[in-house]
Amino acid sequence: MCGIIGYCGPRRAAPILLEGLKRLEYRGYDSAGIALATPGCTTAGEGADSLGVIKARGKIKDLKALVPPDIAGTTGIGHTRWATHGEVTDANAHPHLDGTGDFAIVHNGVIENFHQLRDHLLAQGVEFHSETDSEVIVHLLARAYQGDLVAALTATVSLLKGTYGIVAMYRGEPGRLVGARNGSPLVLGIGQGEMFLASDTTAILGYTRQVIYLEDGEVVSLTADEYATSDLMNREIRKEVDHISWELESIEKTGFTHFMEKEIYEQPEAIRRALRGRLDREYATGHLGGLNLNSRELLEVGRIVLLAAGTSYHAGMVATYALEELVRVPAVAELASELRYRNPLVERDALYFAASQSGETADTLYAMREVQRKGGRVLGICNVVGSTIARESDGGVYIHSGPEISVASTKAFTSQLAAFYVFALLMGRMRHLSHDQGLRLIEALEAVPGQIEAILAHTEPIRALARRYASCEHFFFLGRGINYPVALEAALKLKEVSYIHAEGYSAAEIKHGPLALITEETPSVFLVPRDGLREKVITSMKEVKARRGPVIALAVEGDQEVARVADEVLYVPEAHHLMYPFLLAVPAQLFAYYCALERGCNVDQPRNLAKSVTVE
Ligand code: AGP
Repeated sequence: MCGIIGYCGPRRAAPILLEGLKRLEYRGYDSAGIALATPGCTTAGEGADSLGVIKARGKIKDLKALVPPDIAGTTGIGHTRWATHGEVTDANAHPHLDGTGDFAIVHNGVIENFHQLRDHLLAQGVEFHSETDSEVIVHLLARAYQGDLVAALTATVSLLKGTYGIVAMYRGEPGRLVGARNGSPLVLGIGQGEMFLASDTTAILGYTRQVIYLEDGEVVSLTADEYATSDLMNREIRKEVDHISWELESIEKTGFTHFMEKEIYEQPEAIRRALRGRLDREYATGHLGGLNLNSRELLEVGRIVLLAAGTSYHAGMVATYALEELVRVPAVAELASELRYRNPLVERDALYFAASQSGETADTLYAMREVQRKGGRVLGICNVVGSTIARESDGGVYIHSGPEISVASTKAFTSQLAAFYVFALLMGRMRHLSHDQGLRLIEALEAVPGQIEAILAHTEPIRALARRYASCEHFFFLGRGINYPVALEAALKLKEVSYIHAEGYSAAEIKHGPLALITEETPSVFLVPRDGLREKVITSMKEVKARRGPVIALAVEGDQEVARVADEVLYVPEAHHLMYPFLLAVPAQLFAYYCALERGCNVDQPRNLAKSVTVE
């Protein structure tokens, strides 16, 4: 999952490409490059009349240092890479040129049949300069070209198997870009006398709010003043223009050191937005526009299945506990990547949710399509407006978190919970939940942002704890019931940003094996709020203490009994038992963040990861 961008217009393209790539860097950040139609601009050893390519390993700031500040050229393409095929080298960075240097492409995705295509091209004497799957595209494009760049790209992509978002240019058609999409996102940005192509809207938000989301199997051609979209049969397609509502500052750090820190502190407001207009005190129920289901259809739902990956999967797991308690129908969270290839049994009365912050995660997208192919109804729970899962699902809910830039997902987790809880309230009130119970749930939900603000107003104890424990190389996070998935999420956060090995477990499960790993160097963090399983968790804490393992507890203010057992305690406010996943997630996110700082990690761009995983 890389980030790609293209610009054509009256302005110098280089600064626009570099700024766009900087905004796309969370999609992949191991190497980057740009290509410009600039007579006279060369890379080492290339002729003056070829397209100018500047690319290198490293971050966008490293690439920026290589680009002459006044470099000319008003048409260009750019790429920031997350390596899938071929190591992180200058040669494997994009853009890739064909043998003549006249054609250049950038690609996001995986070409599954690139070996066959490469062998075919090698047999025809084509010379390859990289180990990437992507390079076959530019050689095929050059060979398909017969005077029309759009037709050449359409012919080229019809040979490709796999996923792609491609932007291409040709020295012989200066001022024109072409693009194509299958599986990887591609957005066209319509400016005043200029046009943009990008993997997502964050790269072009500073220039235009008018966008067109390309669908799979669509090709686009653009110059500074016009664009045309067509299908793989070269038939013109008319497309709807969408409007981006996000503010530019929402993708800036606005005074925070890292996006992760900013997004942790944005959670109270993000949750308020996720709940806004969705809680109905008169009927003590929830409202969710966009489900495309009437009350009778909702009443016929006999099973709820949540498809997701990573943090969204953990949010889905928490939701299953709330759904079963409030709606009294079986609910299960499935790893999307596993469900897709398990030939799933899709039941008539099952309702599926595809939960995804980015709305582009390939594992979740393909699992959704698999269920839809089998006749299942899949609703999307997404953050990114206009994302593929949002557009292809049978209805759904936006969580309104605002842009989430840090690779480590934080505010999307709690906003997803808020959206799921509104759905559980809506369904529960259609079944056995009384008006009073509904009202109490509404009050508990509305109290969450304030309770999180109280936690965020008092972070020094969490920072101090990180200072004391960030040198540990192994951690356990342990919870029970609805907080077990929060333990999984806490472990994921610590792993992602601080590179400390951490495992999340049900607190009861460690005595069935993991207890063997308990040592004085392996702290165990217990999530032990005031709920029906508190006593059980305290027992597990004592089992770890008995083996001299350090015990850290996340507990409710004033819980002296926990304080007597634990070595360290972080407190959260007292709350409704279903709300503790919100409150316990925040100190866990902050602990991971502070440990990452203590260990000097690149918090927003952890190694080997990317924000939106658009390949399987
Ligand atoms: C979470 O911090 C990670 N970035 C990752 O696990 C992420 O949650 C997963 O890739 C799913 O992403 P999505 O919500 O955009 O589908």
